[in-house]
Amino acid sequence: MCGIVGYIGQKQAINILTRGLKHLEYRGYDSVGVAVLDNGKVTSYKTKGKVDMLIDQVNKENIYGTIGIGHTRWATHGVPSDKNAHPHSDNAERFFVVHNGIIENYVELKNMLKEKGHVFTSETDTEVVPHLIDDFFDKDLETTILNIIKKIKGSYAMAIVDKTNPDKIIVVRKDSPLIIGLGKEENYVASDIPALLEYTKNMYILEDGEIAVITQSDVKVLDINGKAIDKEVFTANWDAEQIGKNGYEDYMIKEIFEQPQAIRQTLGSYLKGDEVSLPFIISKEELDKIDSITIIACGTASYAGRVGEYLLEKLTRIPVKVEVGSEYRYKDPIIDDKKLIIILSQSGETADTIAGMREAIKRGAKVIGVTNVKGSTVSRELEYVIHTLAGPEVSVASTKAFTTQLLSLYLIGLYIGKERDQIDAEKYKQSIDTLRILPEKISGILNNKKAVEEVASKLSKYENMFYIGRNSDFPICLEGSHKLKEISYIHAEAYEAGELKHGALALVTEDVPVICLSTIEHVFDKMVSNITEVQARKAIIINIRHENIPSIDNVDSEIIIPAIDDLFTPILAIIPLQLLAYYTAKFRGCDIDQPRNLAKSVTVE
Ligand code: F6R
Repeated sequence: MCGIVGYIGQKQAINILTRGLKHLEYRGYDSVGVAVLDNGKVTSYKTKGKVDMLIDQVNKENIYGTIGIGHTRWATHGVPSDKNAHPHSDNAERFFVVHNGIIENYVELKNMLKEKGHVFTSETDTEVVPHLIDDFFDKDLETTILNIIKKIKGSYAMAIVDKTNPDKIIVVRKDSPLIIGLGKEENYVASDIPALLEYTKNMYILEDGEIAVITQSDVKVLDINGKAIDKEVFTANWDAEQIGKNGYEDYMIKEIFEQPQAIRQTLGSYLKGDEVSLPFIISKEELDKIDSITIIACGTASYAGRVGEYLLEKLTRIPVKVEVGSEYRYKDPIIDDKKLIIILSQSGETADTIAGMREAIKRGAKVIGVTNVKGSTVSRELEYVIHTLAGPEVSVASTKAFTTQLLSLYLIGLYIGKERDQIDAEKYKQSIDTLRILPEKISGILNNKKAVEEVASKLSKYENMFYIGRNSDFPICLEGSHKLKEISYIHAEAYEAGELKHGALALVTEDVPVICLSTIEHVFDKMVSNITEVQARKAIIINIRHENIPSIDNVDSEIIIPAIDDLFTPILAIIPLQLLAYYTAKFRGCDIDQPRNLAKSVTVE
């Protein structure tokens, strides 16, 4: 959700800024810009569109300067356009600012500044910041920023440079991520770890309310009152090689194919022999006290949670519900110390999820976080954290994060179920054995991608679809349809198969294909009836079943996945649906990794 970068050192900044922006493009790709400082001169380029458009422009020029900032935007205030692109500056073009977040009181601030004679050229909230700096400038940039952030309400990660003092970058953070990369006689700024990996693995992760003064040879971190803070260096657990496409056409397909490895790595970390071994211990006494589990997440992670509802209830016999972060935070939730809250977030930075997490901590719940990013807010702020070892997920459409989140929920379920005596030794052992064979089973499905591709070629000409399933197949339908919507722009809805006839069946015609998920043996007979109901309305039926489930007559296509215990089918059943979304979008010529209007890591409300 907007990416910011900065560089100060001895190299030409423009190359480092554009490379960093390329790595951060998944955070927004509406417009892009840079400002580079050189001997009292600023060169700033801004354009609507993607980073490559900026690169085309700057390649035609010689842009000199060893300090600069850059931004790739996901529009919140003001349409994507050249003038709304960052960096923004004051009227004298002295202070340049890039910002990720939302300044909620910008109208009030803008009116106040306008009355004082400031002229605004964009529709953004961000533009008030350079004007505020100009208006309230006092002593030096850091003192001024410490003063003006007291006037700003909202969320921000900002990097600011001053043309007349081209020896430092000031960064400041509240509720939006910001990382400082530490080099030798050079330092970096970025919204996210991947942008820095090719230069350094040593970083400072700025906390809310902190401000840093970054020079070529030093990084000074201060608290909101200007008092120096001793920061611990964070060392990233990812390598630069992990963020390339490695020969794949798109990040999404690369990440789909990385799932066997992602599962293997995560399992390797949290299984010791035949036992689940989480990186924390919650005593049996505390676990026995838990009377309900709430999973808080957004988007794809919330659908992992919806699967979790089925599997955790089965494994622990504790009631489970799922809340999306944006609703949970404003509903005055009932939380006490008998509640276990599970936070699911690939990025560990999703604003609504984090707000829910903080509320839960404040009200005394036991909170477990599951995140893919070590060093993220979820990772830092929680005591009990499972890091999924999926490696960096770059594609906006989440895939390997989803399956490793499911895996983490199995691990949590088995851990709690065993401690609370809800699983006998044999079932526990069988479950561990099943987890171990998942990578191989997933590889088997991936090897069969041709069958899915053929189905996708037929589906790609339709504009509406339904996904139906029962039991834990239903949340997999939610996630499968979510994937299709995101990247192919086909309207798709998921229904509990038994619910369709209570209303939405009215929409089913021969022009509306229905994807049926029939992978749960104990509800298969019921599923057959529901499939027959849609067949009677002449819908095209794509049935996905596992090899031990009988085939259904007269379906248009079948996709077959390996057989596995009902409890574990979701983690296999999602794979053909990911492939289906991918190939359908491909046939429609869509931009897979950068779907319209979306961005990864949603750090604003
Ligand atoms: C969809 C997708 C989003 C994210 C959601 C939560 O493919 O990626 O729906 O799942 O924005 O993100 P995290 O998991 O980072 O909190």
